[in-house]
Amino acid sequence: MKIEIYRDYGQLSEQVADKVAETVRAKPAAVLCLASGHTPVGVFENLVSLARTGSVDFGRCTFVGLDEWAGIPPQNEGSCFHLLGTKLFNPLKISKTQVLFFDGTAKDPAAECRRMDTAIASLGGIDLMLLGIGMNGHIALNEPGTPWHLRSHVVDLDETTRTVGQKYFTKKTALRQGITLGLQYLRESRLTLLMASGGAKSPVVRQALEGEVSEQLPASIFQTLPEALVMLDEAAASGLR
Ligand code: PGA
Repeated sequence: MKIEIYRDYGQLSEQVADKVAETVRAKPAAVLCLASGHTPVGVFENLVSLARTGSVDFGRCTFVGLDEWAGIPPQNEGSCFHLLGTKLFNPLKISKTQVLFFDGTAKDPAAECRRMDTAIASLGGIDLMLLGIGMNGHIALNEPGTPWHLRSHVVDLDETTRTVGQKYFTKKTALRQGITLGLQYLRESRLTLLMASGGAKSPVVRQALEGEVSEQLPASIFQTLPEALVMLDEAAASGLR
C-alpha cells in the first residue's frame, strides 16, 4: 500500500475526488463502488462540483453498492442507499439503470448476494473502490473475524457497529445484520482506496496500517495490497510512526 497524508478533511476530500474523476476520465464506463458513511460525503460534494463544471461525466458509469443494513429499506434516511442517493446519485442525475445496490429488505439475502456477485462479474469487475474504516477496523460491513476470501455475504454486526451506526439514523434503530461486498473484491478492484479523517480514527488507523496483519482487523488487509492507496488527513495519520 501507499499512504498519502493531507492537511485536513477539505484537502483530503478534494484529492480523493480527483482520483475518482481521473478513473472516470480514463474509462468513461467505469464501475465505481463508493462507500457510504460520513467520511466520503466531502468527496461526493467535490464530485458533484466537478460534474457541474463539465470536468468529468458520470453518464456512462455504473455505481455498485458496497453494503447495506439488513432489514432497512432504501427510503429510510439511515440506509446506505439513501446517503448515496441524496449526496451523489440525485445531484448527478444518475439513472436507476446505472445503480446496482443491495436490497437490505430482500427476503432471501443469500440470493441477493448471488445476484450482486453475478452482476458485478458480468460488468467485468470493479474499477475503483473507495472504502472507509470503522471504529472497530471494519471495512464495509466486514466485521473483525470475517474471512478475507469472501465475496458478497450476510454478516452479524459487531456491538461497536450497532452502536456507532446509530449516528446515521434519526431515531434508535435495531441493527443486527448487514449485507456487504466481501474483502475479496478489494484484491480484484483495479484501484482500491481507503480514506480516513479525524483524530478519533487515528488509533484504529495505526493498528490497521502498522499493527499485525490479521483477519481480526479487516482494515489490516491494506498492508497486503501493494497497489492500494491509503489517503488520510493529518489527524487520522497522527498515530502513525
Ligand atoms: P464513517 O463510517 O465514514 O461514518 O466514519 C466508516 C465505516 O464505518 O466504515
